[in-house]
Amino acid sequence: MSLPGRLGRSVSAIGLGCWQLGADWGDVDDDVAQAILNAAAEAGTTFFDTADVYGDGRSEKAIGRFLKSRADAERFVVATKMGRRANPHVAEAYTLDNFRAWTDRSRENLGVDRLDLVQLHCPPSSVLADPRTYENLATLVAEGRVENAGVSVETVREALVAIGEPGVTSVQIIVNIFRRKPLERVLSEAHAAGIMVIARVPLASGLLSGRYDEGTTFPENDHRNYNRTGAAFDVGETFSGVPYEVGVKAARKVSALTPPGWTTAQMALRWILDQKVDVVIPGARTVEQAVTNAAVGDLPSLSDETHAALAEIYNRDIREHVHGRW
Ligand SMILES: NC(=O)c1ccc[n+]([C@@H]2O[C@H](COP(=O)([O-])OP(=O)(O)OC[C@H]3O[C@@H](n4cnc5c(N)ncnc54)[C@H](OP(=O)(O)O)[C@@H]3O)[C@@H](O)[C@H]2O)c1
Repeated sequence: MSLPGRLGRSVSAIGLGCWQLGADWGDVDDDVAQAILNAAAEAGTTFFDTADVYGDGRSEKAIGRFLKSRADAERFVVATKMGRRANPHVAEAYTLDNFRAWTDRSRENLGVDRLDLVQLHCPPSSVLADPRTYENLATLVAEGRVENAGVSVETVREALVAIGEPGVTSVQIIVNIFRRKPLERVLSEAHAAGIMVIARVPLASGLLSGRYDEGTTFPENDHRNYNRTGAAFDVGETFSGVPYEVGVKAARKVSALTPPGWTTAQMALRWILDQKVDVVIPGARTVEQAVTNAAVGDLPSLSDETHAALAEIYNRDIREHVHGRW
């Protein structure tokens, strides 16, 4: 379990990323979505990450249905996001009126009076640097629409800007074996400020499960097919910004370090917990993935030798592709 500073509630260190329950990862039908949510909950998961834009509300509605079906709904913390439904997605869309409209829609989709946590969904950098953004988020809290406000960001620079602002409960950023830059300052500065760090894309979109090879294909409606060069959104969100073939080769080396009895995905998630991140939110497309991911909270830390070997893989194969960019 994790008790992140300003959140003020205990949550499981392994959460569930719910983008898969909305869209962009091939087809996950509604009953499978409910089975994944319930299996994760039974395995101890109490933190769920979603966004208003995932399937244009489909992911939020699936979580709403799940919460309604559970007698223990108050155990769960649901973090949603807002901003990416703006079309065009520009800084001028981040107004208090839109914040109100967006959060009202998410409250309805989730079937709750007040959102546990709303995060700005990778807004333009200028929004993160604007003090009015934080005043408007504080207004949402004062009005009782949301309990906590946070940000999801693309870059370390953006994270550091948001960490210095008032009223920010959480910062969500990509952290994984192939994305180490946040380890340099973001974690320590966030924790010094009492801000929760949520690590997304922990498996580099599945690359760090070690299951893919040069011939693997993904469905047409899967961003691992259509966003490899950043055609739809930031390329850093797909395979963590690592060119696919480079990632497959490096993931083979990562796989070779997997402790006996573990899966490579479990090692990759444990590596993130070892960095003292508050919550890791792997996405799952099957019940089995959700359950084996949740089990990582009970696995021991990786050895120093494994940490050193994983750092070497990063430095040799991955760093040049990502470190200067995000
Ligand atoms: N801008 C933002 O704020 C933003 C952006 C991206 C993601 N997110 C959030 O972060 C969450 C996690 O990131 P992500 O879903 O993009 O990437 P991820 O968690 O790195 O990768 C998810 C994929 O990894 C594979 N996987 C998961 N568990 C596995 C297991 N136990 N064994 C083998 N393979 C496994 C699955 O691939 P297959 O589909 O091949 O089975 C799954 O679809 C999202 O769901 C979303 O909530 C937020």
